[in-house]
Amino acid sequence: MSPDYEGGQHPLAFIIDSFRISDEKINSIIADFKDELDSCIRTGNKRMLKCLPSFVESLPKGTEAGEFVVIDLGGTNLRVGLCTLQGCHQFEQQHDTFEVPDAIKSGSGHKLFDFIAEKVLAFVSNLPLKPYDVGFTFSFPVEQNGLSHGKLIQFNKAYDCHDIVGHDVVQLLQERFDKLLPGRLTIRSLVNDTVGTFVAHGYINPSTRMGVILGTGTNAAYFDTLNGTRMIINIEWGGFGDSVSVDKNSLPLTPVDVEIDAESENKGRQTFEKMVSGMYLGEQFRRCALDFLTLGYETPYSLDTKYLTDIELVLKNGLAAGTVQMLNQLALTILERSAKLAAALITAVYQRARDSSPFVAAIDGSLYTKNPTYKEMISKAVQQYTQSDELVIEASKGEPLVGSGIVIAAAK
Ligand code: GLC
Repeated sequence: MSPDYEGGQHPLAFIIDSFRISDEKINSIIADFKDELDSCIRTGNKRMLKCLPSFVESLPKGTEAGEFVVIDLGGTNLRVGLCTLQGCHQFEQQHDTFEVPDAIKSGSGHKLFDFIAEKVLAFVSNLPLKPYDVGFTFSFPVEQNGLSHGKLIQFNKAYDCHDIVGHDVVQLLQERFDKLLPGRLTIRSLVNDTVGTFVAHGYINPSTRMGVILGTGTNAAYFDTLNGTRMIINIEWGGFGDSVSVDKNSLPLTPVDVEIDAESENKGRQTFEKMVSGMYLGEQFRRCALDFLTLGYETPYSLDTKYLTDIELVLKNGLAAGTVQMLNQLALTILERSAKLAAALITAVYQRARDSSPFVAAIDGSLYTKNPTYKEMISKAVQQYTQSDELVIEASKGEPLVGSGIVIAAAK
């Protein structure tokens, strides 16, 4: 039987404590991120961030109009839809969602693009027989040299199709359309999901100045001057904290963060993303929870067989009293660390770019949209870090894929 820790300090409380972040630490993270962003924008320093040009050079007006086929390849799903921009801050859209199979995510990139093309063609077969302009939302870093061209820099999250790194992702898809359905589909825009979120929400609310994704991965886009041109910039903030050792890192990495990174496909990359985004929070909890669950049972044969007939008894009698409560606290602390870190970077971007009041940051992604507790944590943290009501957090009202249609209409 496990010892009873009720009333005293749980021997594993230090694990939970390692996930807490002090206000002082948050302030230094905000300052370090602002420095890093500034040097990336001004001098092209890409050791952590990428600050990629989007070629979207104006904020949405809400008057853009047209009908577009829109595609969104995200961390978990592929969405294919049709959006109709009505030109008065309103749009309609309908889309189909397909889960991308694991085998496709880590196989040949050509198979991935065959998969995308196949789903798009199935969707288009139900549309009137006419040509369509296509917007492509692609949730990975791409070096763009125009609105509808861009070379894939790297995959991340659970994707690892290295044979197409360096290839133009628009060309890969357009080639398939031209072969399978000549003359019907022309890709006119390529946007990151953060850019799509920014533009889609901005179409409805003109005070939008930032698009943030908190989903399988995390990232943000905002408006700034890059190489002499004002445009929306894809920060690729998931890489914040890369290239610096644990002891010198401004991010407070725990041993669990270090383990997760060491065992990941993209070791040494996306440090901030691995601490914050949905793909990793469950794994952070699982690794810590194992320690809690085995506490008291480390010695072989210490778990009496009689408990196996009633798992609740194992929890009640076998585990240290208070352990379930501790697990609850652990889960909340992991969520709160993520929310505080995301809020810190949103605050930093706002402090750099504020040019209007309100300054609306539109957030999309399942970690945020499906989790009311998390939403509250972010709003509370942002309010605390800015000490003002000027920065307003809103759940994105448009899907990123709608943004890819809006930028086509805006460029016409
Ligand atoms: C990853 C990608 C980035 C994307 C984000 C959210 O960080 O590198 O491009 O915006 O995930 O999907």
